[in-house]
Amino acid sequence: MNAQPYLSQLFSLDGRVALVTGGSSGIGRAIAGALARAGAGVVVVARREDQLIATIDELTSEGCRAGWVSGDLGSRDGVRAAAEAAAAVFGEPDILVNSAGVNLRPPMDELGEDVWDTTMTVNLEAPFLLGQRFGPGMAERGFGRIIHVTSQQAHRAFVRSGAYGVSKGALESLARSQAEAWSPYGVTCNTLVPGFVMTPLNARLSSDPEKVAALAERTMVGRNGLAEDFAGAAVWLAGRSSAYVTGQSIYVDGGFSVH
Ligand SMILES: NC(=O)c1ccc[n+]([C@@H]2O[C@H](COP(=O)([O-])OP(=O)(O)OC[C@H]3O[C@@H](n4cnc5c(N)ncnc54)[C@H](OP(=O)(O)O)[C@@H]3O)[C@@H](O)[C@H]2O)c1
Repeated sequence: MNAQPYLSQLFSLDGRVALVTGGSSGIGRAIAGALARAGAGVVVVARREDQLIATIDELTSEGCRAGWVSGDLGSRDGVRAAAEAAAAVFGEPDILVNSAGVNLRPPMDELGEDVWDTTMTVNLEAPFLLGQRFGPGMAERGFGRIIHVTSQQAHRAFVRSGAYGVSKGALESLARSQAEAWSPYGVTCNTLVPGFVMTPLNARLSSDPEKVAALAERTMVGRNGLAEDFAGAAVWLAGRSSAYVTGQSIYVDGGFSVH
C-alpha cells in the first residue's frame, strides 16, 4: 500500500501561503522550514537580513518556495509595513505563525516602562495587528490557520516572568478570542507552548551547564527542547487535518508542564 496520498490529504500544504514572524532563527526558523518542506510558499519576517537570507537560501536550495521581508515588529507602523511587504511576496497568507519574540526579564523591582512597552509590542501587539490584517481575509476565503508561540510563563511564574509572562499569557487569551471570532469561517487559532528550547533567545541560560541539566531533569522525556521538535506540530496545525482543533494551547515541552 502507498501511504503517500493519505498522508498528503492529511498534511500537505501544497498551494498554501504562510507568513512566519521570527522565521529566521530558532523555533520560527524550524517552523518556516517545516511548512515550506510540506509544500507551502513561506515568507519569513524578522529584522536581520543576513539571517533571513541564510534561512531562505537553505529552503530555496532544496526546491522550496520561500521569501523574506526585513521588518521591525517593535512598532505598530513597523508591523503594518512588514505585513504589506510580506503579502506582496506570494499573496495573502493562509497561515500566520507568530514566533518573533523578545525575552527581556529584569527583576520585577527594576522592570521599567521601556521593557514593558517593547515586550508588549513585539510579543503581543504584533500578533494582534497581524491577526487583524489577515484574519478577516482568511475567514472570507473559508480557510485560515493562526499559530502563536507562547511560553510556560503564560501559565506559571518561572525564572522572572515579569512582562514576558504577561505578554505570553495575553497571547494565549488572544488566540482564544481569535478562535471565537473566526473558527465558524474555517480559521483556527491555536498556540504552541514550548518548554526550555536551546535557541539564541536564551543563550545566557543555555551557556550554564548546571541550569541546562536541571531544566532537562524537569521534563519527562529527559532533555531540553530543540527547534526541530516544533516541525510536526506546526505542519499539523497549519494543515486541513487540524480543522476541529481551535482555541487550544498545545504543549511541545517534553512533559515539562505536567511534572
Ligand atoms: N527558546 C525557548 O526556550 C522558548 C521558550 C518559550 C517560548 N519561546 C518563544 O518562542 C518564540 C521563538 O523564540 P526562539 O527561542 O526561537 O528565539 P530566537 O531564536 O531568538 O528567534 C527570535 C526571532 O524573532 C525575531 N525578532 C525579534 N525581535 C523582532 C522584532 N522587533 N521585529 C522582527 N523580528 C523580531 C528575531 O529576528 P531579528 O532579531 O533578526 O529581528 C528571530 O528571528 C518566541 O516568541 C519566544 O518567546 C521560546
